[in-house]
Amino acid sequence: MNLSNNPNKRMITIFDTTLRDGEQSPGASMNLPEKLEVARALEELGVDVIEAGFPIVSQGDFESVREVARIIRKASVCGLARCVDADIDAAWDALRYAEHPRIHIFLATSAIHREHKLRMTQEQIIERAVAGVRRGRNYCEDIEFSPEDASRTEIDFLCKVVEAVIDAGATTVNIPDTVGYATPLEMQARIATLIDRVPNIDKAILSVHCHNDLGMAVSNSLAAVMAGAGQIECTINGLGERAGNSALEEVVMAMRTRGDVFKADTRIVSQRLVPTSRLVSQITGLKVPRNKAIVGQNAFAHEAGIHQDGVLKDRTTYEIMVPESVGFTKSDLVLGKHSGRAALADRAKQLGHELTTEQLTTVFTEFKKLADRKKEIYDADILALIEQQIHEKKAQTTVDSAWKYEGYSLICSDGQSPRISVTLSREGQKTTFESHKGGGPVAAVFSAVVSIVNLPLKLREFKVEAVTGGPDAQGEVVVLVEREENVTSVCRGHGISTDIIEATIMALLNAINRMIQVSP
Ligand code: KIV
Ligand code: ZN
Repeated sequence: MNLSNNPNKRMITIFDTTLRDGEQSPGASMNLPEKLEVARALEELGVDVIEAGFPIVSQGDFESVREVARIIRKASVCGLARCVDADIDAAWDALRYAEHPRIHIFLATSAIHREHKLRMTQEQIIERAVAGVRRGRNYCEDIEFSPEDASRTEIDFLCKVVEAVIDAGATTVNIPDTVGYATPLEMQARIATLIDRVPNIDKAILSVHCHNDLGMAVSNSLAAVMAGAGQIECTINGLGERAGNSALEEVVMAMRTRGDVFKADTRIVSQRLVPTSRLVSQITGLKVPRNKAIVGQNAFAHEAGIHQDGVLKDRTTYEIMVPESVGFTKSDLVLGKHSGRAALADRAKQLGHELTTEQLTTVFTEFKKLADRKKEIYDADILALIEQQIHEKKAQTTVDSAWKYEGYSLICSDGQSPRISVTLSREGQKTTFESHKGGGPVAAVFSAVVSIVNLPLKLREFKVEAVTGGPDAQGEVVVLVEREENVTSVCRGHGISTDIIEATIMALLNAINRMIQVSP
C-alpha cells in the first residue's frame, strides 16, 4: 500500500485549487500578476500541489498556467483537462516547463451525467477514461484522474473506473463530491469501499474534492482521510464554484489540532494561513466573514467576561489553538504619529510583510498622513495601508497612462442633489469635473469619475466596511466596475481612507486602471 494511504503514519497531500475551482467563484477572477502572487504565497504556505487553471478554456488561462509553471519550483503545478485530446495537449503545452508537472483529467461517471450530459454508456466512459490517461502519461508521469460526480456514481461502476484508470497509469485518483451532496459517513464508506475492492489501489493516491453546498465539505474531506484518502483538494477561504470547496485552513488545522483523531498531518506552514487568507481576500475582493473558523477576525476574540477571565488565567480554558500558530500576531500594538520607520517596518514584518526599502518609503508616507487623521493606528490599519499601496502601485506601474486621484469637494444636504467636483490627473494633466446631479453621493462620485475617464462604465457592486472600530476608523471600499463595449469586462477595485468619498474615488480608479491595463 502506498504510504499516503497507510493509516498508521500519514502525511496528507494538500492540493490547492484556489486558482482554478476557487477562481470559478462568482466575482473572484484574477489577472495574471495576481495569480502569480497567489501562487508564490501558496508555495510559501507549503502546499504540495497548485492547480493553476484550465488551460484549454482561454488564452488567459493557458498563459497563467504556463507562467505559474515557470516560477514555482517546489510544489507540483497542475493543469485541468477534460478527457479529450485537445484539452490534454493544451494542458501539457502549458505545463511543460514546470519542475513537477501534473495533468488533471476529468470525466463524469454518474448515471445522471452519463445519460443527460454525455450520452455515453458505462463501457464508453471506461474506454474514454483509459485513452485520456494513456495520452496524459505519454507527456508526464504525474497524472490525476477525476470521475466527476463520483459521490453519485454507482459504487460497482466507480470501482471499475478507478481500477481501469490506475491500470492505464493514473497516479492519483480523485473522488469529487461535485455537487456537495454526500454526507461524512457516506464519504468515509465510499473511500473505504474503494480501498477494499479496487485490487490495484495501492498503485495510486486516493484523493477527495468536496463542495460545500450543504456545508459539509470540510467534514466530508476529513471523513475521507479517516477512511484512508491521502490527498485533500481545497481552497483558501473555501472559495470555489457555488458554495465553494473545502477550506484549506480548516482541514489543515483540524488535522493538526486533532492529530489524536485523524492520525494525519500536512506539510503546511500554519503561520502563513492568515497572511495567505488575507492576500486571497484582498485580491479577489471576497471578504472573509469575521466569524470564519481559523482565519476570521473573531476566530480568537473572547468577548464574554467569563471567557476573558479564563483565558487570562490559562489560555487553554477557552483556546484550542494558539493564535500565533495560524499567523495572528501577538499583540494589537498601537502605533501613532510619533512612531518611526523602524517601528512600522518591524510591525509590518510581524504581520507577514517584509517590505522593500521602496515599499517602506511609500507605506511610511501614507502611514504619516493617516496618523494626522487618526490618533491610534492598529494592525488592521497597517495591513490595509500595505495592501492598498502594494496593489495600487501594481496597477499604476503596469499602465503608463494610469489615472491618479488629486482631490474632490462635495456638498450634500437632505433632499438636495449633491454638488460634486472631482479632480483627476493622467500623465501629469489635471481634469476637473463638476456636477449637481440626482442620486446620492456615491452616484455623484461615480458619474463625475466616469465623465472624466470617458469610458462606458457601470457600477455593479459597491461595498464599504470599517477597517477597525471607532469613529475615526478607515473605510475600505470595494467596487466592481463593468465596461460594456465589444466585449464586456469586469474589474474590481479597492480604496482605503478615513474619508469614504476619497476611498470610493480611489477604488474606482483602481478598477479603471486595471481595465486600461487589460484593454487600453
Ligand atoms: O467539482 C468537481 O467535480 C471538479 C472536478 C473538475 C474535479 O471540480
Ligand atoms: Zn470542483
